[in-house]
Amino acid sequence: MPPTHPNSPANAASVLVVGVDARAMGQIRETLGTEAVLSAAPVPYEEAVAAVRRQRPDVVVTGFDADPEEAVRLAPMLLAEAGTKVHLVALSSGADPDRIRAAMRAGYREFVVLPADAELLRQAVHEATWSGDRDEDAGEVVALWGAKGGVGTTFLSVNLAGELSPVHRACVVDLDFAMGDVAAFLDLTVTQSIADVFRNIGRLDERMLAGSVAIHASKVHVLGQPTELDTREEPRGDLVMRVLTAASRSYQYVLADLGASLDEASVTAVTVADHIVVITTPDIPSVKDAWRRLQFIDKLGLERDRIRLVVNRWDRKTAQVSLADIEQNLGRRVDATVCDERQALRAVAEGVLLREFDKKCEGARDVGRLVGLLTGEEMADDSKPTSFMSRLFGR
Ligand SMILES: Nc1ncnc2c1ncn2[C@@H]1O[C@H](COP(=O)(O)OP(=O)(O)OP(=O)(O)O)[C@@H](O)[C@H]1O
Ligand SMILES: [Mg+2]
Repeated sequence: MPPTHPNSPANAASVLVVGVDARAMGQIRETLGTEAVLSAAPVPYEEAVAAVRRQRPDVVVTGFDADPEEAVRLAPMLLAEAGTKVHLVALSSGADPDRIRAAMRAGYREFVVLPADAELLRQAVHEATWSGDRDEDAGEVVALWGAKGGVGTTFLSVNLAGELSPVHRACVVDLDFAMGDVAAFLDLTVTQSIADVFRNIGRLDERMLAGSVAIHASKVHVLGQPTELDTREEPRGDLVMRVLTAASRSYQYVLADLGASLDEASVTAVTVADHIVVITTPDIPSVKDAWRRLQFIDKLGLERDRIRLVVNRWDRKTAQVSLADIEQNLGRRVDATVCDERQALRAVAEGVLLREFDKKCEGARDVGRLVGLLTGEEMADDSKPTSFMSRLFGR
């Protein structure tokens, strides 16, 4: 049983509301009903830390409309005061991607847009009461991001999930709203897609997620894109965040295939991800795009130690660019390579994992080693730096 607040009805969360006006407070009160014990009035930002010290709430709901910067600044202070068990919920009237990112980085676990997603607030508070410490056991979110289209992001997402699935619960979430072919790679039929989940986001929980994924024989689960192009939804950052958070409660590894897109979905996903795997192929256009992508990640202010760089379709004999040149020009190490594997195309055509198609091939062995990216082991490389790419890039 989760602990209950001494003055609260059984299982109702004690909720402190910070930095909202009377109207928003009314909405919150109406939304939460008997789900929560609320203070009579919202407290101003400057009194939030003292109020947390006094009340020891389960949940702090902080308004972002009045002063988003203050709301962001407050989060680490609230966590320092209350400990990480407190659930911080950001409340906003708009789903501005920059605002969502700032909130996530600061330590907010949920981002709720009122009034549209009133139900989400109710659910977030409900989960906070019931989940106890569970977020500490939440699975790892791995964002796989292609430097450009066609570098093998889907292939690696699916096959990395396949490496994890015999031992861990692993799910590939298809966040490539342009291509969206994860399910096709495993020859799975999508009956419930991520678009359906978005539409019913207020009801999203572990059971709904379990009913929405397609399951491959390898035990890889897939939350896929709809088959029909015209039913694809425009990604919204707060919904993407919500899906990834829910998935990380159900799965030990959530692999988000972002494709190469720079939309709200991918930017949100990399912001919340534990690991960001940037994928390139060893050719000049891809490496250039990888450089741009790494710059972009830097601009988002994401920690570099979350990033892994993978060179896919690596073949020392035919590569246009050596690993050393890639490293020199990207200003970082290559963490892993996956060889250019002839069997890859046939595995995809049959809708099976590369390992299932031919577990002894070099590509399957390389993919097997990618698991080390998530556990911190590194791959050695034996190439020597030269300045070839520097000249090509004029850098
Ligand atoms: N290591 C590899 N060796 C050989 N072929 C590969 C390898 N990785 C991927 N491929 C092939 O490259 C093609 C593109 O792969 P994939 O669809 O995974 O790329 P993507 O980056 O997801 O592309 P998109 O931008 O279309 O989503 C596929 O036919 C796949 O079989
Ligand atoms: Mg793809």
